[in-house]
Amino acid sequence: MPQAMQRPSRWKENLAYLKWFYWPGTRMSARDVYELVDTHAFSADGLYMNLGYWKTAPDIDTACRDMARLLADAVKLGPDDSLLDAGCGFGDQDMLFCDEYNVGNVVGINITPSQVNLGNERIREAGLDQRITLIEGSATELPFDGPQFDAVVALESAFHFCSREDFFVDAFRVMNPGARIALADMIPAVPEGSWFSRYMKRSGWKFFSQKYGIPEANADTFDSYREKLVKAGYIDIELVSIRAQVFRGLHSYMKAQPEMLARFHPLARFPYKMTLFFDADKVYQAYDYILATARKPG
Ligand SMILES: C[S@@+](CC[C@H](N)C(=O)[O-])C[C@H]1O[C@@H](n2cnc3c(N)ncnc32)[C@H](O)[C@@H]1O
Repeated sequence: MPQAMQRPSRWKENLAYLKWFYWPGTRMSARDVYELVDTHAFSADGLYMNLGYWKTAPDIDTACRDMARLLADAVKLGPDDSLLDAGCGFGDQDMLFCDEYNVGNVVGINITPSQVNLGNERIREAGLDQRITLIEGSATELPFDGPQFDAVVALESAFHFCSREDFFVDAFRVMNPGARIALADMIPAVPEGSWFSRYMKRSGWKFFSQKYGIPEANADTFDSYREKLVKAGYIDIELVSIRAQVFRGLHSYMKAQPEMLARFHPLARFPYKMTLFFDADKVYQAYDYILATARKPG
């Protein structure tokens, strides 16, 4: 596999991990988080960075790919479509879209330069560079003049965007009339239950946002998420929670296959190992995981 860009020295990297994971209150941008995480991917096969869709998947590689397929099916991806992938990681899902959905033209945009560089190298090696281009930039400032995409996906990335609402507006601007959008996204769980349970949910989301560069404006409810889509002009909006097909499957797999943690940076393994002493509903109680789909009129 090709190497990513010049990396910081081992001790600088360890120091950055210590600060990020263990120093209370440390806040980093999403770009810096993913630069630091580098190629410590969730999947063994490829460099997927999503939690996976575990409806039938037996392992993390299938689950990551199934999450990509879920979005592709949600936008009814086909060979004639021009696709924008916002927050494309290392481009694994874009290669899958070409292989399995025969899409002819994919543009991935990503704020993390090392992911874009390595992603483009891998795409070239796979002989897909005539069909896929990854560009460095923000999903909230899309470098396109006007409508040109038939489909837009954001695979576990929009909660990072500053803000998700700005992305809805800018994506709408570059979508052709009738184009479809689908997001696999995370929002806070509804803070219900006992006082303690509400407290755990609120502080869990706060901790997650702080560690992963998530703007406060993205702490949406189902209602505010839908309102933002409506305000941006979308129609045929559907929001559905898929948390039952995400967190439990990932958690059981990590318990059963602890070697998955060996792919993480050594300093990041400990907190994940600790979560395995608890059940998934407790560990992930602060989050909801949703599939959002909508369409531009036309
Ligand atoms: C959890 S990873 C998911 C990556 C990929 N979709 C996958 O499934 O492997 C989130 C991605 O969003 C990207 N990202 C975060 N903020 C962004 C922004 N404002 N614009 C574009 N990409 C962004 C990160 O660099 C990272 O690649």
